[in-house]
Amino acid sequence: MFARSPGMREAIGLAERVSSTDSNVLITGESGAGKDVLASWIHWKSPRAAQSLVKIDCATLPGELLEAELFGYERGAFTGASEAKPGRFEAAQKGTVVLDEIAHLSTDAQAKLLRVIETREFERLGGRKTIKLDARLIVLTNVDLAGAVKAGRFREDLLYRLDVIHIRVPPLRERKDDLSKLIEHFVQHYAAKHGRKVERVAAPALALLQAYDYPGNARELANIIERAVIVAHGKRLEEEDLPQGLSAAVSAQKNKAKPLSLAELEAAYIAETLAATKGNKTECARILGISRKNLYEKIARYKL
Ligand SMILES: Nc1ncnc2c1ncn2[C@@H]1O[C@H](COP(=O)(O)OP(=O)(O)O)[C@@H](O)[C@H]1O
Ligand SMILES: [Mg+2]
Repeated sequence: MFARSPGMREAIGLAERVSSTDSNVLITGESGAGKDVLASWIHWKSPRAAQSLVKIDCATLPGELLEAELFGYERGAFTGASEAKPGRFEAAQKGTVVLDEIAHLSTDAQAKLLRVIETREFERLGGRKTIKLDARLIVLTNVDLAGAVKAGRFREDLLYRLDVIHIRVPPLRERKDDLSKLIEHFVQHYAAKHGRKVERVAAPALALLQAYDYPGNARELANIIERAVIVAHGKRLEEEDLPQGLSAAVSAQKNKAKPLSLAELEAAYIAETLAATKGNKTECARILGISRKNLYEKIARYKL
């Protein structure tokens, strides 16, 4: 895991401290930010690392199928259950269960999960034998669960149970300090995967990659680099190897930049004029059309 940025360092620091415990962990963050990667990292760092890591995406299976998948079922539990089958919770014994996109759990499944968390026990669908759960639970979501609770789509008591340790993975645009390491990592990874000799990124291409905001986060960066590595000619990734829309997107981003307040605009203009006059206050005040005293006041106010 690469973490130079304060936000990511905090996330990994917390992940490290929690890894040695059995505590439930809630990881939130935008899609593609690295929640899955962090969940696996916690597992590999934990005393459960030698046991299985079981991941289930709650968004891809409809209600009953998901329950059958999680809890398993006995023969005859429902039409088509011609044989008993253990669920993923059983497969994860002594290991870690990662529930991705937890906000998609049906009301029914939420109730069952709550019971599993509270009692550490469950039964297969249609089964009477109670099974003890010995697995660490990590849940992931890119949805604001508190909002889902307010909207009546998510159980508040379940959220409280899940929210014991909450790790926030910041979006990539808020941790650009991590970009260069991530780019280097993806270049090496995809060069090896596709048998290419690409070793580095040319300065103009790097500048463009640094400027972009990545609404799709690390996943989008990975895709951009993979494609660039494939189309690149030599040992260097060039600007032309990046997607055509990238530089247009960067320009659009700049135009959308947050508008300045009058005070911010004034401060910026005074700073610029001071630089242009090499710090000569008399000359600067003359250009700005204000008194020297007034200029000194503004310099103090704006901490220029
Ligand atoms: N810190 C990281 N180091 C290396 N690869 C990362 C990192 N963060 C994300 N990735 C890569 O970005 C992609 C998306 O990450 P993932 O964990 O699946 O995001 P999420 O679960 O938040 O949608 C994956 O291909 C993963 O390999
Ligand atoms: Mg994911």
